[in-house]
Amino acid sequence: MIRNNILRVGRRNITVSTEQLLPKKYGGRYTVTLIPGDGIGKEVTDSVVSIIEAENAPIDWECIEISGLDNHGEGVQRAVDSLKKNKVGLKGIWSTPADQTGHGSLNVAFRKQLDIFANVALFKSFPGVKTKIQDVDLVIIRENTEGEYSGLEHESVPGVVESLKIMTKAKSERIARFAFDFALKNNRKSVCAVHKANIMKLGDGLFRNIVNEVGKNEYPEIEVKNIIVDNASMQAVAKPHQFDVLVTPNLYGSILGNIGAALIGGPGLVPGANFGREYAVFEPGCRHVGLDIKGQDVANPTAMILSSTLMLRHLGLNNFADRISHATYSVIAEGKHTTRDIGGSSSTTEFTNAIIKKLATL
Ligand SMILES: *[C@@H]1O[C@H](CO)[C@@H](O)[C@H](O)[C@H]1NC(C)=O
Repeated sequence: MIRNNILRVGRRNITVSTEQLLPKKYGGRYTVTLIPGDGIGKEVTDSVVSIIEAENAPIDWECIEISGLDNHGEGVQRAVDSLKKNKVGLKGIWSTPADQTGHGSLNVAFRKQLDIFANVALFKSFPGVKTKIQDVDLVIIRENTEGEYSGLEHESVPGVVESLKIMTKAKSERIARFAFDFALKNNRKSVCAVHKANIMKLGDGLFRNIVNEVGKNEYPEIEVKNIIVDNASMQAVAKPHQFDVLVTPNLYGSILGNIGAALIGGPGLVPGANFGREYAVFEPGCRHVGLDIKGQDVANPTAMILSSTLMLRHLGLNNFADRISHATYSVIAEGKHTTRDIGGSSSTTEFTNAIIKKLATL
């Protein structure tokens, strides 16, 4: 069954067409795979669970608690199996140890196995959060399954490492179409391809050319732009308003996403989602694990809460999504119960309770 998804953050609609199979629904309720992940994941997903419960939204959770730290990567199969069954997930971030001996990233393995190829991260200023630049509103659409994250590395002779960055026509085309589709459905004006084709003429050249071809041939109503990734970083810091939708290979999206997070007030404020043809996994757009503040009840759950509203919208539960999004924005704008990352002094729990209280008044 073909399905159009309407996502929404804040006051505007965000629509994504992904030809999703309809998730399973029993007796009017949906089962969603819940993956807290590491670091602050448990705290921020707990926040979402209590809000959804307070709202009586028809969601049942299937919780998969595995860690990127204390296993050798086998656990990811349980998460993949659960997703294959439920088709929809809400996910925190698994930590990936940076030593050379451990397994590769569970996050990468998970996205590849499910082929959730398109990552969408939304960077939109919040009324009430003080930042140097106001009214930022940009979207980064990032290819999730190849590029620099192919995980193909070897030491050919001692002291010489080869890391392969794989770029394909097929995957560049599908992420390009996804980006233009997104732009069209959300009344965005332009899509900008971020690349380094002046140096990586073949790989990034392919990506840039395909984005341009798809745009010109299939989406004449959307303007196509190009920018070199270095310049994109400078422009994003200095003049972010020139950007609308950015489409990027894997690594550049991660780096620019962190710049975007800094622009709007931090990683705790960036919602996101990953889409494939069959599965959708909602996950904070700026993928910080937060090991340093784990278990202290200080994390900002906004990114996870707004990711869950994207999920509710994906399931057609728009009214719940509207209410939760509205309550979250209101509590932040009022500024009395915000977390310390955005200048407040409330705990994760206090902020969550303020949202639940606000919901009761709506
Ligand atoms: C950098 O980007 C700006 C605007 O986006 C553009 O005007 C300028 O020509 C670019 N510079 C280079 C070196 O590509």
